[in-house]
Amino acid sequence: MAMATPLLPLLLLLLTLATVSADKFTVGDSKGWNPGVNYTVWEKKNRPFHVGDWLVFYYQEGMADVVEVDEVAYNKCDASNPITNYSKGRSFAFELNHSQMYYFICSYGYCYQGMKLAIKAEPLTPPSSPLSQKTSSAPSIVPRSAAAVTLASAAAALTALLRLV
Ligand SMILES: *[C@@H]1O[C@H](CO)[C@@H](O)[C@H](O)[C@H]1NC(C)=O
Ligand SMILES: *[C@@H]1O[C@H](CO)[C@@H](O)[C@H](O)[C@H]1NC(C)=O
Ligand SMILES: *[C@@H]1O[C@H](CO)[C@@H](O)[C@H](O)[C@H]1NC(C)=O
Repeated sequence: MAMATPLLPLLLLLLTLATVSADKFTVGDSKGWNPGVNYTVWEKKNRPFHVGDWLVFYYQEGMADVVEVDEVAYNKCDASNPITNYSKGRSFAFELNHSQMYYFICSYGYCYQGMKLAIKAEPLTPPSSPLSQKTSSAPSIVPRSAAAVTLASAAAALTALLRLV
């Protein structure tokens, strides 16, 4: 049917844009941020992480905390010199703002059994479609909000087209 043809590029556009949207990761999934979970395994299962993604730590108040440290302190389970220290409430959301390594440990002694998390936030890459290759000299980072607006309008256009069919 003739109407189906214009839908294909739109669908491809939607799929491409969907891959650059920010993700929210619950650290440890249903196990949360607790002793006895191997977060190295969790990280391998959930990578890659990107700038703009969120990590959400759920922990038991008074039983655990989330301490951001550097690599040396991470390797030694040393929480004495934290970059940041989150111990209030039962959950904590952390945005991966920069393309870098992030290290988190628990300062309650469980770090030695694996309650530690090292995460690399990868830079955002532009969609590798023929469209973006034409403008490859342009800045390579598409702002999230712009991508979201494009996605929303593409979705609206697709919905309108589907109504026509
Ligand atoms: C985290 O901050 C709290 C409150 O400021 C403090 O009592 C605790 O010792 C700190 N923990 C670490 C590991 O720095
Ligand atoms: C990330 O950036 C936002 C906006 O500038 C800021 O509010 C937030 O505190 C930053 N998060 C971290 C973990 O640095
Ligand atoms: C977690 O799993 C990794 C990969 O299987 C392993 O190398 C590591 O020793 C484990 N850590 C702990 C504390 O068991």
